[in-house]
Amino acid sequence: MTETMDVALGARSYSIHIGAGLLDVAASYRAIGARPRFIVSDSNVAPLYLQRVAAALGVPAVATLVVPAGEETKRLATVERVLDKLMEARFPRDGVLVALGGGVVGDLTGFVAAIYQRGAAFVQVPTTLLAQVDSSVGGKTGVNHPLGKNMIGAFHQPLAVVADTDTLATLPPRELSAGLAEVIKYGLLGDAAFFAELESNVGALRALDHATLVAAIHHCCHMKADIVARDEREAGPRALLNLGHTFGHAIETFTGYGTWLHGEAVAVGLCMAADMSARMGWASLDVVARTRKLVERAGLPVLPPPGMTPGDFRTLMMHDKKVAAGHLRLVLLRSLGQAVVTADFDAQALDATLADTCKAAQATT
Ligand code: NAD
Ligand code: GLY
Repeated sequence: MTETMDVALGARSYSIHIGAGLLDVAASYRAIGARPRFIVSDSNVAPLYLQRVAAALGVPAVATLVVPAGEETKRLATVERVLDKLMEARFPRDGVLVALGGGVVGDLTGFVAAIYQRGAAFVQVPTTLLAQVDSSVGGKTGVNHPLGKNMIGAFHQPLAVVADTDTLATLPPRELSAGLAEVIKYGLLGDAAFFAELESNVGALRALDHATLVAAIHHCCHMKADIVARDEREAGPRALLNLGHTFGHAIETFTGYGTWLHGEAVAVGLCMAADMSARMGWASLDVVARTRKLVERAGLPVLPPPGMTPGDFRTLMMHDKKVAAGHLRLVLLRSLGQAVVTADFDAQALDATLADTCKAAQATT
């Protein structure tokens, strides 16, 4: 069964189609019409799915580019490579780019679309759990800078999102777990009942139980579509979607992109945000314990890399996009399912979380 939901953004509104087998169905791509199309995919996804998508897209014939898989590809040099290919192919401004892959391909291709000839259309065809529940929706596009994650980018909404849930069958378990970090994030930030459901269902999700996975994807996409429709450019509630990310991005930048998966770093960030919230007297210690337990059961880490110090965190966290007028803003938990963005946090609570978490990580070596 296919579910379609809309992201309501006036003239930039679009549909998210979620269902099994959508990749092969020509109607999934109807938003493209007869326009020229160019698929960008990566070296893991292309052998599995590129021919099928090209066949479903039909005529006019599809141009393609396959980039190396992995977070390191999400950099300006790859943007240039894609632009070179588009220029060589004389790809027209009214053509449509198709991002076939995970969040890396989606963020990269979306950014290229945002800047190619001052803006071309693109369609997201997410093939990871992370991309199906989060990155393909909402129009955040961009690449990393060596000094900071996602530091170069643009808001550019897709024409449509086509999430074929069957593609998750080929996803490596580590990548599935990484996607679960973002799923857990939704429960923590805005829906305690969903968090409790995840506590019951995490085993089924990891075992790729189709109905459970599809229900979780629907739920997350509904939450994200609602938040994005209310705050497309992150002037307010959209920042809540960054729960765990300020800590997580610091880990990703510290370790070098690709060593830790984005979802793994976010998982640790969720635990650190919960810990700090409890130290401020907001979330209870029970919320901290439940967060850690669910993260662990999802196959994810709860501690940062052993070599990382509180000073490393502090330096790297100041590169966060939520830093305003030199002040760090953090997403913290008032309670389970209720997150807030605040610059008015207790600095001692942050110090204690950084010190104790880094010490605990060091003790594991
Ligand atoms: P990814 O794109 O690197 O994909 C993970 C790995 O799985 C890759 O090796 C890929 O080749 C492989 N893969 C993808 N689909 C597969 C399939 N169906 N079968 C087998 N292998 C498959 O990583 P990701 O976790 O999808 O995305 C992470 C990126 O998303 C990060 O760069 C993060 O910053 C970004 N992100 C963006 C947003 C946003 O709003 N734009 C939100 C969250 C995360
Ligand atoms: N993943 C954060 C956002 O889309 O806003």
